[in-house]
Amino acid sequence: MRNKNTQTIIITGASWGDEGKGKIVDFLASEADIVARFQGGNNAGHTVVVKGKKYKFHLIPSGAIKNKTIVIGNGVVIDPEVLFEELEMLKTEGFTPDLKISNTAHVIFPFHKLLDGMEEITKGKYAAGTTKRGIGPTYSDKASRYGIRVFDLLHKDIFLNKFSRLYDLKLKIYKAFSGNSQDWELNKQEIIDNYLKFGEIMRPYVISSAYYLNSALDNGKKILLEGAQGCLLGIDHGMYPYGTSSITWAGGAPGGCGISPTRIDKIIGVIKAYTSRVGGGPVPTELDGELAHQIREQGHEYGTTTGRPRRVGWIDLFNLKYATMINNYDSLAITLLDALEGVNPIKLCVGYTLNGEKLDSWPIHSELIAQCTPDYISMPGWEPRSSEEWSKIAKEGFEALPTEIKNYIAKIEDILGTPIGIVSIGPDREDTILRTTFWD
Ligand code: GDP
Ligand code: IMO
Ligand code: MG
Repeated sequence: MRNKNTQTIIITGASWGDEGKGKIVDFLASEADIVARFQGGNNAGHTVVVKGKKYKFHLIPSGAIKNKTIVIGNGVVIDPEVLFEELEMLKTEGFTPDLKISNTAHVIFPFHKLLDGMEEITKGKYAAGTTKRGIGPTYSDKASRYGIRVFDLLHKDIFLNKFSRLYDLKLKIYKAFSGNSQDWELNKQEIIDNYLKFGEIMRPYVISSAYYLNSALDNGKKILLEGAQGCLLGIDHGMYPYGTSSITWAGGAPGGCGISPTRIDKIIGVIKAYTSRVGGGPVPTELDGELAHQIREQGHEYGTTTGRPRRVGWIDLFNLKYATMINNYDSLAITLLDALEGVNPIKLCVGYTLNGEKLDSWPIHSELIAQCTPDYISMPGWEPRSSEEWSKIAKEGFEALPTEIKNYIAKIEDILGTPIGIVSIGPDREDTILRTTFWD
């Protein structure tokens, strides 16, 4: 039985990513000592906006600009060059984060990115539209035990042995895919030299995330665990194969950083006021035409990592109910309510119909989802406001919200059976309303 103060909070996306996790993590990081990533890699793009200034994080946890200790856990896949770019960006902005990198995190190599693109082509209609950052191929190597971990980069003999094996295998696969190796412009020795250098740069930051985080908890520290992607993009509970290669629901957090599930105190799911999706696969509530354009522009729905326009649609409470069930969220954070301004009425998907029958469970399989039609209820929308007016409402608090938004929130809480503890009505850190205490 839990009788202590909250020490660990997991924040994960409940949907298809880009729900505003970066903003919520930054917001709740104030009282945390440590912010840790536990899965994914630089396929993620997390945005934090502070007084109009935008920071984008792909690999570094979003607590970095609050000068928290930031940990890249064992479940993350690391592209060292992206890591160094982000550290450099932080340095330029005047931040010197206390960074720790797990020695068992796996490393992304240039051939992983090359093969990511090639695999997408061979998958045809099952291509997920990946970010081409090498995420899938790196996790594949991890699962098949060919992978190279941060530890290996720090030990030349071990690295050379494992790397040769991996490089030769990848070249063979590349030739099999492409019929030749003409485009393989990767020089083995150059990669070896580069990655040994990368290892030396990383060396001072390298830790065992399991020992580090457990000891921090023993010493009363507070840890925020920052998910990337979202529940419905996950390898087990997502709309496979249109998703990513890691465990994106809250269950991935303990494994991805080495702390027990019994040490997790709270789980927050981040949802958007509507649905967005980058990449392939069916989105039953997808909108097109003028309305899609309006929501995309009002929500600036262009990928933080790839710049791709995001597909948008009505909120899908049927798939969110699945995410809510498996994660058993203590609370939800809802974002981008301001971006729905002027949309009237607003529709909410509350179920799916398949072959004339209403389903009682989210069908999870993309082939079935593609055949479903969403069942909607409608609610009145709210009037457009200037960003200054939204900020003023955020300062005044929940009661100052338009009645239509309060009703929309109440309906979502009712259907998902979960309280909404954080309400976000603008991109800025301050455009946020907190309805409960998380670090009690
Ligand atoms: P993440 O991947 O879940 O961290 O989300 P992204 O950063 O990729 O995408 C969310 C986008 O919405 C970013 O541009 C945020 O700055 C922005 N954002 C977050 N919350 C709000 C909000 O309540 N209103 C508006 N207008 N923008 C928001
Ligand atoms: P954040 O953390 C939205 C999507 C890609 C593609 C699929 C697989 O910012 O929410 P991958 O490169 O991971 O193999 O791509 O997953 N995807 C995301 N979509 N937000 C993300 O991260 C995503 N990371 C991956 O578009 O469909
Ligand atoms: Mg994102």
